[in-house]
Order: sequence, then structure tokens, then C-alpha cells
Amino acid sequence: MNMSATHVEDLKNVMEDWKNELLVYKFALDEMDTKFSIISQEYNLIHGHNPIEHTKSRIKSFESIVNKLARKGCDITTQCAKEHIHDIAGVRIICSFIQDIYNIMDVLRQREDLKILEVKDYIQHPKPNGYRSLHLIVEIPVYLTNRVEHVKVEIQVRTIAMDFWASLEHKIYYKLQNDVPHQLTDELKEAADIAHYLDEKMQNIKREID
Ligand code: GTP
Ligand code: MG
Repeated sequence: MNMSATHVEDLKNVMEDWKNELLVYKFALDEMDTKFSIISQEYNLIHGHNPIEHTKSRIKSFESIVNKLARKGCDITTQCAKEHIHDIAGVRIICSFIQDIYNIMDVLRQREDLKILEVKDYIQHPKPNGYRSLHLIVEIPVYLTNRVEHVKVEIQVRTIAMDFWASLEHKIYYKLQNDVPHQLTDELKEAADIAHYLDEKMQNIKREID
């Protein structure tokens, strides 16, 4: 590709713009980290156990953002990304018990520093392939030097068993390039149901102990 000096300058400006816009998502994840650390420690005080096994967070790659915008038929601009892509910042909260998931949602509901925009309960309503998790889209204010940005974050809350299944299912799909034979999808669904059986079993044991 042969680019003129002005094209190079334009491209640099566009890249700088994306870099700056994506930075607030990193700040949002830092804020969420602190919130979940506090929630977890306080929960431990009240309920006597730590509800969060571990957390993972990620910023969607520039390439994935562009692909998703194209798939949605949106312009490839930072403005469209902010408006139409709700999972640029993503947090995964891995809980011990199913009940912890709903307790954490209740805690989030009561907070004034966070607004829940959307709830998708794939635990009450699993996907046809067996996928289970609680998905929230929240919006939090990020305080910058000269303005406040309201940033959306996708939170996926799930148990260890749900995470185990989702991670491996994702790997299998990735490996087979989405061309998964019928028999395998049935087996994956069965595995998801077994994982759910385990979750219910552990929840019941916990209840008996309590
Ligand atoms: P996206 O366009 O992927 O964001 O879909 P959506 O906006 O309909 O959101 P949805 O809540 O269905 O899923 C969002 C995210 O949940 C995905 O990016 C995955 O991380 C996870 N997820 C959803 N379905 C599955 C699934 O069947 N298997 C696995 N492994 N993960 C899933
Ligand atoms: Mg998504």
C-alpha cells in the first residue's frame, strides 16, 4: 500500500482517537475491580463465606470491536462503538454457589454508583445449547479531569461449574470452526445439565450445613 503523508497523518489521528476512547473502559474495569473487592469482603462478613472464587476482566480487542460493528451494520467509529457495543469492557465473576450469583445481583441493584441497564438470566432460562450464566449490562460514572464519562460494562456472573462448561464449549467450537456435529451438541447439552446438577447438589449441601 502506498500512502501519502496526509493519509499517514489521518491514520495516526484515527488510531490516537480510538486509543483515547478505549482508555475509559480500562478505567471502568479498574473501578469495577474495587467495587467487587469491597462487595466480596463485606459479603464475607455478613454471610460467613467469600462468594467470589475469582474474577477475570478484559477489554475487547480493536479487531473484535471492528468485526462486531461491521456485523451490526454500524459505521466504524468510536461514537458507534460506544453506543452499540455493550461489552467493550467485560468482567466475569466466578461464584461459589448459585445463590451467591443472585445475592451479588441484589447488592449491585442497591448501589447508587452503578446503574443496571439490562439483565439476561441464562440460569433461569438456559440457552438451547445448555449455556448458563447471569449477564448484566451496567453503566458506571468514570471521573476524568474535566468531565464524567458514563461507561457501560458487561458483567457475567456464573458458578465454577458454569464457567468450566462455557470455557470448554468455547474451545471446542473454536477448534471445530463452529462446524460441530449434531451428536456433539447433544453431548455438550447433556454435560451442561450435569454441571447444573452439580451446582444444585452443592447448593443443597451448603443449605444443610447452614
Ligand atoms: P454477543 O453479540 O456475543 O455479545 O451476543 P449478545 O449481545 O446476544 O449477548 P449474550 O448475552 O447472548 O452473550 C454475550 C457473551 O456471553 C458472549 O460474548 C460469551 O462470552 C458469552 N456466551 C453467550 N452464549 C454463550 C455460549 O453459548 N457459549 C459460551 N461459551 N459463551 C457464551
Ligand atoms: Mg457480548
